[in-house]
Amino acid sequence: MALYSEKVMDHFRNPRNVGVIEDANGIGEVGNAKCGDIMKMYLKIEDGIVKDVKFETFGCGSAIASSSMATELIMGQPVSEVRKLTNKAVAEALDGLPDYKMHCSVLAEEAIRSALEDYQKRTGEIIE
Ligand code: FES
Repeated sequence: MALYSEKVMDHFRNPRNVGVIEDANGIGEVGNAKCGDIMKMYLKIEDGIVKDVKFETFGCGSAIASSSMATELIMGQPVSEVRKLTNKAVAEALDGLPDYKMHCSVLAEEAIRSALEDYQKRTGEIIE
């Protein structure tokens, strides 16, 4: 069996929503101290909905695929749902990751959570 699913390879080779949102109102940056990988997530939230999301990932293929898939999962979603996104859901949407690469999907969950916290700080809005 291949180590990585076709979806992982697809999102690694053709990552969706790469880049920066200049007028983002929620930005989160996280890193993994062990591998040194860094992920930055930009959210543009309007009326409680993620209208746009982009990411920059300096990291391994699984981290790039995880960030790409995570952006697809949260695009157009209400923030109350986005808050519940887990790394497991990201990994499942990618048809799985090897056990020792699960931490790469954790970066995506943490980056989104951190961007939501930033949004709450900037706007004073509480996300239920
Ligand atoms: Fe560091 Fe994948 S090896 S995020």
